[in-house]
Amino acid sequence: MLSLRNITLTQYKNYLQESFSFDQPIIGIYGNNGVGKTNLLDAIYYLSFTRSYFFKSDLQNVHHGKSGFRIEGNFTTDMTDQHVVCILRETGRKEVLLNDELYPRLSGHIGKFPCVIITPDDARIITEGSDERRRYSDALLCQMDTVYLQHLIEYNRLLQQRNQLLRSLSERISTDRGLLDVYDAQLQRPGTYIFVKRQHFFREILPSIRSIYQYISGNDDGLELSYHSDLLTTPYAELLYKSRDRDIMMQRTLAGIHRDDIDIRLQNQPFKNIASQGQRKSLLFAMKLAEYDMLKTVKGFAPIILLDDVFEKLDALRMHQLLERVCAPGNGQLFITDTHESRIREHLEKLSVDYALIGLKQ
Ligand SMILES: Nc1ncnc2c1ncn2[C@@H]1O[C@H](COP(=O)(O)OP(=O)(O)OP(=O)(O)O)[C@@H](O)[C@H]1O
Ligand SMILES: [Mg+2]
Repeated sequence: MLSLRNITLTQYKNYLQESFSFDQPIIGIYGNNGVGKTNLLDAIYYLSFTRSYFFKSDLQNVHHGKSGFRIEGNFTTDMTDQHVVCILRETGRKEVLLNDELYPRLSGHIGKFPCVIITPDDARIITEGSDERRRYSDALLCQMDTVYLQHLIEYNRLLQQRNQLLRSLSERISTDRGLLDVYDAQLQRPGTYIFVKRQHFFREILPSIRSIYQYISGNDDGLELSYHSDLLTTPYAELLYKSRDRDIMMQRTLAGIHRDDIDIRLQNQPFKNIASQGQRKSLLFAMKLAEYDMLKTVKGFAPIILLDDVFEKLDALRMHQLLERVCAPGNGQLFITDTHESRIREHLEKLSVDYALIGLKQ
């Protein structure tokens, strides 16, 4: 079983220097608003993904007035200890070490300590633009397949270069349209790899999301999920070639896997337009639990699960169902936050599992 035994945060967000030990498979973290519950979960997420779940820029994670931070943790996997350190140097350079060895590339770390996070902010996955849904599926795919991650990095790098060329062509700084041939050819390899992987992935996970949704909400409400991609109808070469004139006019690449989406419908209407609050919550939890199940199957052990503020989001019955599911024997370590010690205790008591509570103070 994968578990995090302790963590030390230095200059990370509101923490100047603090250590926590986790001796149980289930850890409840409670404290008033603003004490740092979410930040602590985010630090755990950081050890898994080498970045914050919330902020793209690492500067926002540095304790105000300081420069640089350090997060250090000890994991146990199959009875062996693993020491992970993430450092943001004062120079802005990021370093990640596993058992004192520096990774040449941060991507080498992703997937070693899988983790699933559920936070109130996640409603965005359903309500906002397609980039949020790609972020959801990519986080999962990258943890399962390091080659996918490398292709994704390569694709994004090439895409930026192509977009830069499109701007130059549009503003007539460059007239070298031939260079587009080069980028288009280069984009196809990582682009096709990503497309094929996503196709397999969605074929598996979408039915699983649907059945978990049904389990949580009691019926399926006519929920339909499907993978949407330009590549489903048009081969890559043709796609990029066809959209060239439009791309130059708009100064960016308008077709390709960076536009993929999950189409979500309820009674044949766009989900976000007609779903109730409760239906949204159910879908979100179904997506996250499907992610959890898939990681568990692929890795052969359960990922760590981080539940932030879920008590505020779900009614008592749904909450109990969710906890029963993730706390079932054979499942992994769970971190859960709440503002009320009594509420978190009450829920965990009902499950008759070993748990520890950590109270945070300002
Ligand atoms: N870079 C930073 N430096 C110093 N403090 C920070 C930094 N980033 C966030 N904070 C502080 O961290 C606190 C928020 O912490 P966090 O979001 O973890 O609280 P919480 O316990 O989850 O609260 P809630 O119950 O409201 O969700 C805020 O007071 C915020 O000002
Ligand atoms: Mg919080």
